[in-house]
Amino acid sequence: MNNNLWYKNAVFYEISVRAFKDSNGDGHGDLRGLTEKLDYLQTLGVDCVWIMPIYPSPLRDDGYDIADYYSVDKTYGSLDDLKVLIEAAHQRNIRIVMDLVLNHTSDQHPWFQSSRMDKNSPYRDYYVWSDDNTRYKDTRIIFVDTEPSNWTWDEQAGQYFWHRFYATQPDLNFDNPKVQAEMLNVARFWLDLGIDGFRADAVPYLIEREGTNCENLPETHVYLKQLRAFMDEHYPGRILLCEANQWPEDVRPYFGDGDEFHMGFHFPIMPRIYMALKKGRFEDMEAIMNRTPAIPENCQWCTFLRNHDELTLEMVTEEERQWMWKEYAPEPRMKLNLGIRRRLAPLLDNDRRKIELANSLLFTLPGTPIIYYGDEIGMGDNLDLFDRNGVRTPMQWDDSPHGGFTSGTPFTEMVKGEYGFAHINVADQMKSDYSLLRTIQRMIALRKKHAAFGGSDMQWIKTGNPAVAVYVRQHAGETMLILNSLSDALQQVALPAEYHQNGLELFSGKTLSLQAPISLQPYAYLWIKLS
Ligand code: GLC
Repeated sequence: MNNNLWYKNAVFYEISVRAFKDSNGDGHGDLRGLTEKLDYLQTLGVDCVWIMPIYPSPLRDDGYDIADYYSVDKTYGSLDDLKVLIEAAHQRNIRIVMDLVLNHTSDQHPWFQSSRMDKNSPYRDYYVWSDDNTRYKDTRIIFVDTEPSNWTWDEQAGQYFWHRFYATQPDLNFDNPKVQAEMLNVARFWLDLGIDGFRADAVPYLIEREGTNCENLPETHVYLKQLRAFMDEHYPGRILLCEANQWPEDVRPYFGDGDEFHMGFHFPIMPRIYMALKKGRFEDMEAIMNRTPAIPENCQWCTFLRNHDELTLEMVTEEERQWMWKEYAPEPRMKLNLGIRRRLAPLLDNDRRKIELANSLLFTLPGTPIIYYGDEIGMGDNLDLFDRNGVRTPMQWDDSPHGGFTSGTPFTEMVKGEYGFAHINVADQMKSDYSLLRTIQRMIALRKKHAAFGGSDMQWIKTGNPAVAVYVRQHAGETMLILNSLSDALQQVALPAEYHQNGLELFSGKTLSLQAPISLQPYAYLWIKLS
């Protein structure tokens, strides 16, 4: 585990600990449950697990509202359970990163309680207070479905406080050096425990300045660089993954000169994968990749199809958003904020061909792919559940009661109907070589075996066929030619003369002659190694 660039050609996996596996029958997933399932993750081929927040929390935002940065919520277990998990994961060459929520706390955090109670409290200045709720008026609201303003009046404090998310999540004041130092302590605490890094939540919003949109400000980068320098000095090899839901050119500064974040999510490519699948054309994907700036050699994008939030449509135009809603959120309750609260399989009509193709794109585009738990078996969602809870239902392990998730009563209603555990579960799919799970497992293995995928190079190949995304990935002396058909009809692709050679198709293990036009079945994909 001593390669400091390990994250560049790794496969990540995101987990809601509460929903993954319950070890003690209380109906809530926990750290011991996750530890029990490490063999599964190893078999799948995962290199790094990102666990969603496990801090004590009143759960007004599923743990992203933290009431204590220095312990684990009892529901999930103890700090010792976390140590055991990390150790057991490391034995399997799996790393564990966790959420670091810098921007805000819960309103139940003792700092906020003290801050609101007393103007002279040493914690007053930990938050952003104002007599005037018209400040920073150029700042957008993120949770548009629930929050009318970024300011909320606090009776006890006699002032308004600033919050970019729910009103139960007051923003910390990063202009206060004490806050800055405190959050370094938080990072130190978990790194000392052995955690391999952080998915840093909502980082664009740390600092507010009048006359700006209060996002991506220079002072924010100054602080994040300090955090990175601190980690490099004391914890080399541990990583920072940036959650900045922004355009590629605005995410670029978060990599700095290779001295800020190691990784950053590529938000805008994600909805364009869905656009491409529905339109049967790849042009939107090509445009956003061409708009994506180069990043330093020691940095990496992180690509995803779905995560624990709504499928965000912040990084598309208004027209595209309306179109995406029309195509992918036919029922009003599928919409949430500026997005769609559905899982991968239902979004793609449970069509195995489309689900595989979307994954083929995920695994062959530049960047480290991250799988959202359950998507590898094609889990569904439960739209009856509030907000984003519908995509955070218990993992479906087998067809025993509650899908093998718990011996007690699950903390939430599970997925019902055609996507329920009777039809979709890990045990069944493990048994068949042709299941989605087995296919994803093969994709992961091939992706990791071939260094070409870990680089940042990508060349689009012009074939004149707008329905087939053809590109070359080249790195470390290896060249991979990728064909992804977005069409529901048979397609022909004639490659430019320079590719008229033989290539080894990785899934079939067959040598293909690339001189003649290639025929592709609907939604077919080919990963071809060129010599
Ligand atoms: C991030 C998380 C989201 C959370 C928000 C506030 O966007 O992904 O789940 O609600 O930050 O912490």
